[in-house]
Parts: sequence; C-alpha cells; structure tokens
Amino acid sequence: MIRIAITKGRIEKDMCKLMRACGFDVEPIENKGRELLIKTKDDIEVIFAKANDVVTFIEHGIVDIGIVGKDTLEESDFTDYNELLDLNVGKCYFALAAYPEYRNKSFKRRKKIATKYPTVAKKYFSKLQENVEIIKIEGSVELGPVIGLTDAIIDIVETGSTLKANGLEIIEKVSDISTRLIANKVSLKYKSEEIYNLVDKFYDKIKKE
Ligand code: PRP
Repeated sequence: MIRIAITKGRIEKDMCKLMRACGFDVEPIENKGRELLIKTKDDIEVIFAKANDVVTFIEHGIVDIGIVGKDTLEESDFTDYNELLDLNVGKCYFALAAYPEYRNKSFKRRKKIATKYPTVAKKYFSKLQENVEIIKIEGSVELGPVIGLTDAIIDIVETGSTLKANGLEIIEKVSDISTRLIANKVSLKYKSEEIYNLVDKFYDKIKKE
C-alpha cells in the first residue's frame, strides 16, 4: 500500500486527471464527499491537504508520496525528501515585480519588498548581496507597491494579468514553479519498487502528452 498526500484545489484536479489517464481507480476520489482518507482499488490511500501540510506529512513519514507545488517546497525549511518527478502542470514562476520606475531609482534606504514567500525572497536578495526589508503579506501581495507599503514584490506570476491590471512590471524572473512529486526517504528505501512503479506510470503518461 502506498499513501499519497495531494494538495487540495487545482493540483488535486490535475492529479485526478493524470491518475485517470494512467488507468487508476479514481472513482472513490471523485466521489469522496467529506471523507478525508480515501482508499482506492489500486492499493493506494489518498489524503487531500493544504500544500504546507503535504510537506509536514512527508516530514513525519505519514505519507510515502506528496504532490505539491515547487513554490511550497522552496519556502519550506524541510528539505530531507526526494523530488522524483516534475508533473509538468501548475506551471508559473516567481518574479520580482514593481512599477517601471523601480529599475532606475537609486534608493538611499533599504528597499522594502512584500511577499508571501519570505524565504524565497531572502535567498534571492542574498544572492544579489542586497540588504532589503522583507514584509510578509498573506493576501494580495501586489497591494505592497499599490498602497505604497513596499517598493517591489516577490510573487507568483501565472498569466501576468494581476501585475498588468495594477501597472506593475516584471523586473526579473526568479525561478520556475510547477507541481512536483516528492517521496519520504524512508518510504523510498522500504517501498522503492511500489513507489518507482507508480512514478514510472506517471512519467510515461506525462512524456506522451
Ligand atoms: C496568485 C499570485 C498573484 C496571482 C498571479 O494569487 O499571488 O496574485 O495569482 O496570477 P496571474 O499572473 O495569472 O495574474 P492567487 O490567485 O493564487 O490568490 P492568493 O492571493 O489567494 O494566493
């Protein structure tokens, strides 16, 4: 038996589609109602969880496999897992964005940066050897420059329409994001055949698309 934690929402939909395409029994997943731990006929147990919780369940060995966005993985302190597959869905990227003036402005103080991803932002600016003030925002990060709280943002960009609608521009792309399959290291040792069989099935299907 393999236990998988899947991030709720869009990733859940993409994953159901992939599992169906691979011939798995997705009927119990699609008709799950309020049930939290779903058993399929393929000897797979599925949990749907918030992205950070998927990583927590991997960390504690509660699930063998996690399906989660690279954004969550990059922000997480926990790194002791194996990333086995890029599922090639949920594609977007992290970017530094601001009003166009940001490019040529000379700052006489520390720049202020709004983000939902302080770890990602810290890493980005430390590579540039820039000492900035990072302000964590939980909701619409774009509000940072719009309301004059910050000079720029580090946020996820998918279509770019939120930036455009608010007069903001991409200053620099930071890194690519997509949905990844990760495995608990102990599970990989003791259930390696089961896990790699599953990963191979997903990989073959993704390759053909
Ligand atoms: C994300 C992100 C941007 C927006 C970018 O927020 O934080 O605000 O999507 O997408 P776009 O480039 O297609 O406009 P999301 O919609 O996930 O909502 P959230 O603020 O609740 O995280």
